[in-house]
Amino acid sequence: MIRSKALIASLLLILPALPALAGDSPQEQRQELMEDVGGAAKKIGKMMKGETEFDAAVANQALVVWAESAEPFGKLFPEGSDSGYDTEAKATIWSDPEGFEEQLALFAEKTSAAVAANPQDLEALKASGGAVFKVCKSCHEGYRVDD
Ligand code: HEC
Repeated sequence: MIRSKALIASLLLILPALPALAGDSPQEQRQELMEDVGGAAKKIGKMMKGETEFDAAVANQALVVWAESAEPFGKLFPEGSDSGYDTEAKATIWSDPEGFEEQLALFAEKTSAAVAANPQDLEALKASGGAVFKVCKSCHEGYRVDD
């Protein structure tokens, strides 16, 4: 009896740490990564539309955020992570893994190419950024739930 009370007491000490651990689910990790990708897209998109001044340093930093997200993102879709945590991942990710891999590979390819292009003016950014935005769209159409 006394031992189990001690056990419960120690569990209660551990429990407050659990919400922080919950952030480690692949569903949440990939959503956080996509939020970073979305944040970078906002910066680049605004420049492409002329809503903000072209800034080569800011643009290239955002391109790096895109490129660095591609590989870790693809690793965050283990079996069984198709639901929970408000995920918008579509079942097609697991029913059509080749198609999803293809989109991941395109994303890695176009984002790396954009970083390598190192755009120094708006026209160059539009070319590199536009190629990446096409992949955002095609992957979302096939593999993200519409809301
Ligand atoms: C290879 C596929 C793929 C590519 C490429 C891709 N996305 Fe996504 N994106 C997804 C999936 C799948 C989700 C849903 C993840 C989840 O909810 O578990 C998502 C979710 C998001 C979200 C919502 C994040 C949240 O808070 O839940 C944003 C914003 C986003 N993507 C932006 C972008 C932008 C911008 C690009 C291009 C620069 C991009 N994505 C490229 C597959 C992709």
